[in-house]
This record gives sequence, structure tokens and C-alpha cells, in this order.
Amino acid sequence: MKLPAFIAEHTAAIERELERVTPPEATRPELLHRAMRYTLFAPSKRVRAVLTLLSADVCGSASRALPAAAAIELVHASSLILDDLPALDNASLRRGRPANHVAHGEAIALMAAFNLFDLAFTTIAQAYEPVLARQLTALLAGSVGSTGLIGGEVEDLLATESSISFEALELIHRWKTGALFVAAAVAGALSAGARPDQVNALTAYAKNLGLAFQIVDDLLDVTGDPAETGKPHLADARKTTFVSFSGVEGARSLARELCDTATTALGPFGSRAVRLRDLARFVGERHA
Ligand code: IPE
Ligand code: IPE
Ligand code: MG
Ligand code: MG
Ligand code: MG
Repeated sequence: MKLPAFIAEHTAAIERELERVTPPEATRPELLHRAMRYTLFAPSKRVRAVLTLLSADVCGSASRALPAAAAIELVHASSLILDDLPALDNASLRRGRPANHVAHGEAIALMAAFNLFDLAFTTIAQAYEPVLARQLTALLAGSVGSTGLIGGEVEDLLATESSISFEALELIHRWKTGALFVAAAVAGALSAGARPDQVNALTAYAKNLGLAFQIVDDLLDVTGDPAETGKPHLADARKTTFVSFSGVEGARSLARELCDTATTALGPFGSRAVRLRDLARFVGERHA
């Protein structure tokens, strides 16, 4: 996967941090750890972890952001395993490999997903002092809960094979994907001791970025190449998506508009937010 330099320059540190916190394959139960590592270390853009690091950096320092960035990626990897299960999207390809349940069976895939999720919170608890650990725990737990990733996945599931309104679809996307983007940005900010106005600006940025990211994901389901996306083509045929609402061009321009709105929210940071602007451009134009 060819990633822009401003993302690639963070990849090694993110992989090292994930490696540091994840049990080795040789540790019992080997099969559980093999299944966790199978999805976690498969090729990924690591967009959410990069968002955490860049958000911390723009607030003054990224030196304490890595465990939070890893926790966000652990939750994300867990969600991918669950999302692909036969009971949900029934997808057989993920990150360029057979989906976790295809490779390891559903029982082990489920346990691997739960343990990745558990590891996210263990990572936060071990890395930060009590006040910050508590803030990050509440933030991440909230982004996964009823008005976050899980709530969004449930609404998405209930909407499959039925037609829903534009507003309902937007809410699903904000919950299932946008919420973790907001948590990623705010976690970075909190790790850097950001001021409330900085947290607010990054929240507005990440809300728009996360919605744009999922709209482009819907687009790539139709226009993407599985060799690049590492995911099946037309997996969303049974669903209402931004493409079924607005067409390919309409969805593309909506995503670009949201990326522009995200960029505008960075105003208070001035020229220091150059990398976050790069990230918004990448999200609007990505092919994988
Ligand atoms: C896929 O996320 C799931 C969505 C929320 C759209 P990514 O496109 O960030 O997947 P990876 O991490 O690069 O594999
Ligand atoms: C779901 O959206 C995102 C998650 C919360 C995991 P999709 O179901 O469209 O994600 P992909 O396309 O399978 O990655
Ligand atoms: Mg899904
Ligand atoms: Mg899916
Ligand atoms: Mg998708």
C-alpha cells in the first residue's frame, strides 16, 4: 500500500508501540494471540493513530501520544473483525487477507476481537497517570458505546435491506466511524495537555473528517480495486450508502466538502496544522 510520506513517517513508531503492547504469538494461548496479530498487523493505513499523533503534535507535543494512538488502533482492529463476521457484513477479505473468521473460525475471531478491545484499555491504564487515564478511558469507551461504534454498527445492521433517510444514514456514519475519529483526535490533544479551545477545534475537525472518511469508504466499495483496498468489491450492495443516495460524483463532492469544512476548523492552529490539512486532503482523495 502506497501511503503519503506524512503518514509513512509515523508508521514504524506506531507498529513498534503495537508490538510492545501485544502478546507474542508464542505466548499461550498461542491461537488467540496469532488471531489477534493476524488482523492487527496486516497492512493498514493507520489513519486513526496518525490522527492521534498529529493532534497531539499540533497541541504542543506528541511525546506521550503513542500509547493512546495504539489503543485507538486496537479498538479499530477489533471492530474490523466483528464487522466482517457472517452475522454482520459477512465479508471474506480484510486488509488483503482472508477475514479473521475465515482464517481462524468464528469462535476464535470473536475472542480475538474481545481481547484486542481489552488490550486497548489495558494499554491506557498502564501508560498514563490516573487523571489522564480516566479521561482517556471515558473518551474511548464513549466512542465505542451506544452512540458510537457499536450503536452505529447496530443501526447499520438494522438498516440493511431497508431504505433509510439521508439523516439516518449520516447518523450511522457519524456513530460507526466518526466517533472513533473524534476520540483519536481528542486523545492526542489530551495526551499533550491541550486547552479546551484546542480540543474543540480538533473535535470539529475530526467529526467532519470521520464522516468524509466513511463516505469515501462507501465510494471505494463501488469504485475501488480490491487489490488496493484489500476488501471485497460491492460488499454494500444490500445497503443504503452515500453512493446510493448521491451517486459516485455526488458522494465524492460531499466528501470533499466535508474535508474542506474539517480544514476550516483548524483555523486557530494556523500554519502549525499543516499535517492535519494534508490528512484531510488524503482522506478526500484516497484510493484505499
Ligand atoms: C475501514 O477502516 C473501516 C471503516 C471504518 C471504513 P480503514 O479504511 O481505516 O481500514 P485500515 O485500518 O486501513 O485497514
Ligand atoms: C464499518 O463500515 C466500519 C466499522 C465500524 C468497522 P463498513 O462495514 O463499510 O467498513 P468496511 O468497508 O467493511 O471496512
Ligand atoms: Mg459494516
Ligand atoms: Mg464492513
Ligand atoms: Mg465499507
